[in-house]
Amino acid sequence: MKSRSLNDKLLQELAGQYGTPLYVYHTDIIRNRVEHLRGFDVIRYALKANTNLSLLKWIHSLGVKVDAVSAGEVYKAFKAGFVEDEIAFTTDLFDHPGLELLEHHDIHVNLGSPDMIEQYAAIRPGHDVTLRINPGFGHGHHRKVNTGGPDSKHGIWHEQLPSILKRTGDAGLKVTGIHMHIGSGSDFKHLSRVRAALSAAARIAADSVTTISTGGGLPIPYRPDEIPFDVEHFTNDWQETRTELQRTLGRSLVMEVEPGRYLVAEAGLLLTEVRGTKTSGNVDYILVDAGFDNLIRPAMYGAYHHISIVGRDDQPTRPQVVAGPLCESADVFTQGQGGVVEPRELPTARVGDLLCIHDVGAYAASMASNYNTRPVAAEVLVEGDAARLVRRRQTPDDLAAQEVELLE
Ligand code: LLP
Repeated sequence: MKSRSLNDKLLQELAGQYGTPLYVYHTDIIRNRVEHLRGFDVIRYALKANTNLSLLKWIHSLGVKVDAVSAGEVYKAFKAGFVEDEIAFTTDLFDHPGLELLEHHDIHVNLGSPDMIEQYAAIRPGHDVTLRINPGFGHGHHRKVNTGGPDSKHGIWHEQLPSILKRTGDAGLKVTGIHMHIGSGSDFKHLSRVRAALSAAARIAADSVTTISTGGGLPIPYRPDEIPFDVEHFTNDWQETRTELQRTLGRSLVMEVEPGRYLVAEAGLLLTEVRGTKTSGNVDYILVDAGFDNLIRPAMYGAYHHISIVGRDDQPTRPQVVAGPLCESADVFTQGQGGVVEPRELPTARVGDLLCIHDVGAYAASMASNYNTRPVAAEVLVEGDAARLVRRRQTPDDLAAQEVELLE
């Protein structure tokens, strides 16, 4: 499965050379996932999932475009070699750095709130825009990542589309596309519902629409027994929707997909060293040197990440809890929704063993923090037989570098 194509010997060597915790990415998996999505005209990588520059350069070389959500992400896209017309900027508000960026760069914007219309028209009169529509429903692997419905701050409410089209027209902007992203790690059933909602919106904006964007949210099988998402079925369904719409609108439409997780999650693992084991009451703990500063998904969403111990695949297992070094009770990698600690069947671990936390290519390093004043971990990219450091570990000096010392 997935990032396990990285063999134990290499993982031992990498841990020895670069230390732990360490993110390790494997390009083969990304290439494979991109190939699965070639049925879409544009694959637009949601770069919030992982913004490592070498990884981005590599993704760029596959002909993939990007969706950025902040001025910082656009900056990184430029650094990785993407040019203006390969970048879309999706946001629900323009902060000052965002607007300033758009003054200097002609980047396509995907508007998620009404007030952005006049703000954008003031700096780019007459430009094309797409609208991110909230279709009135959403779905994701957790309610914190559901981006549709009235409880979501994202997008322009679907019922307001006619008045918003008038408003964009009055501001002199042209609406060339409709975009919907209902949530992250959704499922086939909900992602399919988007087709009807997007078609309805595109019909309302029929005069000028030339692009439809299906958003991202494609799930990946985090658990070993989960069935992978049927991308072929998904693509065929969307092609059907596009064909129908083209017939209605009387023009050809560009069809985009905007995944983050689907492209990169399975390409990454987090290597961490066992630094202790202990028993409290009847619970056995494996204490590792990675924490939720390196991977916050279990603590934030109760997300499941598969865990293995390097070189111990064939050994008998028993229930154990894997926890990190942070001074915070939520620093547990084996927990369910609501923070309930869930022991996991794992081989008996010893101090010095290496653990792999799988499927961390998306939303791990990009959500890393310096909590407990811990440096952000290093990242390694494996391409064929070559494993190269693509981000050095932060140093204690890095941690203090931006501060202004008032004390003599
Ligand atoms: N497009 C837009 C406009 C988005 O807001 C997102 C994700 C994506 C695409 C990509 O979604 P994906 O294909 O990766 O599911 N931190 C959470 C995920 C939050 C994603 C927010 N927006 C997690 O770790 O599950």
